[in-house]
Amino acid sequence: MKIMSDLPLQNQRVLVREDFNVPMNDQGEIINDQRLQAALPTIQTLLTHNAAIILLSHLGRPTEGVFEQKYSLRPVADYLSKILQKKVRFELNYLEGLEIQPGEIILCENVRFNLGEKKNDPVLAQKMAKLGDFFIMDAFATAHRAEASTCGIAHYLSSAAGPLLEREIKALKQVMDHPEKPLTAIVGGAKVSDKLVLLEHLVKKVKVNTLIVGGGIANTFLAALGKPVGQSLYEPALLNEAQHIMQVAQDCGCFFPLPEDVVVAETLSEHVVTQIKNIDSVCDQDRIFDIGPQTIRHLTEIIQTSKTLLWNDPVGVFEYAPFAAGTKAIASAIANTPESFHQYSVAGGGDTLSAVEQFNITQHISYLSTGGGAFLEYIQGKKLPAILAL
Ligand code: 3PG
Repeated sequence: MKIMSDLPLQNQRVLVREDFNVPMNDQGEIINDQRLQAALPTIQTLLTHNAAIILLSHLGRPTEGVFEQKYSLRPVADYLSKILQKKVRFELNYLEGLEIQPGEIILCENVRFNLGEKKNDPVLAQKMAKLGDFFIMDAFATAHRAEASTCGIAHYLSSAAGPLLEREIKALKQVMDHPEKPLTAIVGGAKVSDKLVLLEHLVKKVKVNTLIVGGGIANTFLAALGKPVGQSLYEPALLNEAQHIMQVAQDCGCFFPLPEDVVVAETLSEHVVTQIKNIDSVCDQDRIFDIGPQTIRHLTEIIQTSKTLLWNDPVGVFEYAPFAAGTKAIASAIANTPESFHQYSVAGGGDTLSAVEQFNITQHISYLSTGGGAFLEYIQGKKLPAILAL
């Protein structure tokens, strides 16, 4: 795969696919700029080459062919202008051609307003390709989508991976392909059904030394062991699969710790009465919303003695203060691992970014991925179409 520095980009028109799909509030203000900050080095490098930079991205999931204000990328153009301290021109209509000079930056309106983007229409891809002399695919977070602007263009222009895409792949390879052991994966979230492939891949192929599960996922495993889970979220239809994964883990010599104690309540709310219970004492009316202090102590020890860590999704309903301790403890364990131990940690996907930000440990994670779905697909061993296209 070619990388950006392989291409002669001096004074050229460079088409760059980024993922500027950032969360915004009702006033159209950007509430998390991680993806914009992550793309800055790419844009700045292109400026040093005096390239004419044409940025492409999607935002949300609009109906193709229908303009809707809330999906407009205009606020992103304004925001980029501010953080780059350089004008980023916003273009609504670009498919019939653009006027641009070397050293200028344009952000085109949401690519998903164009008919044919999602189904990777070759006519649309060719129109986009005509805008540039080269194509840089930098949107790791959309690399799992085979769309005109992520994959199609690469068939019509000399193309390469951008620096952000490169950084993401390098970080993930360090964990998935040649990790320093012991390697621990922490997989939280609500449903085993979303993570079955991932859990099996981590145990069988990646050969993690320890697999920590949390959230609703842990409940399904507890139920599969015959433990009481009361009214907790779990997936009764997946008990056999859960047993199978635990068996595979045992066969592979993978340690698979399940919560020994949990925080329970009868309802999910900020001011509810909570109880800490040993896992065997969960009652019929209880709902498990977090891991308990004994489990926290145990997991902290595992985390702080792991040379490599992969973290996806919280282990409790951390958005509610009474159930935030478990996820906070995971974050603190990573943050407080002594620097001299040289632990390498990668976090990403789903709600991981919110957790990392809420507990203020961004600077303690070796690499924080910009990917949601793309991160998950990559770590479960899938080949991402946009990377294949390069
Ligand atoms: C994401 O936020 O995961 C990416 O931007 C992809 O968005 P999509 O799921 O709408 O394709």
